[in-house]
Amino acid sequence: MSEVVYCDQELAVAQEIAHKAGAIMLQYFDDDQQTEVKNDGSPVTIADKKINSLVIKELVDVFPADGIIGEEESTAEYGDGRKWFCDPIDGTIGYIWGTPTSMFSLGLVVDGVPQMGVVYDPYLNRMYTAKKDAGSYCDGKKLSVSNLSLEDGTVAITGDVRRISQGLSYAKTLAETDAHIATFSGAIYKATLVARGKFVGYIEHGVNAHDMAAVHLIVEEAGGKVTGVSGNTLDYKQPFKGAVVSNGVTHEELVRIAQS
Ligand code: IPD
Ligand code: CA
Repeated sequence: MSEVVYCDQELAVAQEIAHKAGAIMLQYFDDDQQTEVKNDGSPVTIADKKINSLVIKELVDVFPADGIIGEEESTAEYGDGRKWFCDPIDGTIGYIWGTPTSMFSLGLVVDGVPQMGVVYDPYLNRMYTAKKDAGSYCDGKKLSVSNLSLEDGTVAITGDVRRISQGLSYAKTLAETDAHIATFSGAIYKATLVARGKFVGYIEHGVNAHDMAAVHLIVEEAGGKVTGVSGNTLDYKQPFKGAVVSNGVTHEELVRIAQS
């Protein structure tokens, strides 16, 4: 088992990297993004690749013993020990569209449990940070989820309208409640809106461990709850798909809806 980590140095290093990653995101936002399509059909830009390489280079210099799991490039496999989870750009589709809802994400997971997370929005220059048991912050201001119920709140779902129109059953169940429903590209952006108290929840069957590691802690340290779509604890020792993110109050109901 790895030792308990306090993460002050990790947090400082992650924020420095996030600023550099944000500069690359802005550099290519309106430029030739040299977009390609990956084997899973999802797009990747030159900025995704450059940021992932930067993260590996910078982390290997400071923490040579740690593993790095990035969406585009990794130095390690899932498992026990210290692993950095990076999504160089979450919300690449929105990035390509030119809508500013993409985020840089870097989290430290120890023995499958997120310990530190940094998420950076370069368009609003907002830095979200969290350390386990030490709260979560946006630019130094403490974050808190709302205590609204489902009927009084807004729930975010996938931005993939084709999937919704092809009969995503949970979207139909959610539409039968009184909740407002929001959709746009960017899993992390939607989850930060739960941490900020704007949304009461977010259901997403497509997210991966690299998308969720940092924002998971940011939401939970703001008083919210994050699980798998069946209400299961997310285990970052292995890849997974799907999450329910909530303010806590709506969690059980959202898990029920996610499974419908
Ligand atoms: C994806 C986006 C998208 C969500 C997917 C994620 P990526 O991440 O956040 O909005 O619906 O589940 O995988 O591929 O842009 O990093
Ligand atoms: Ca990505």
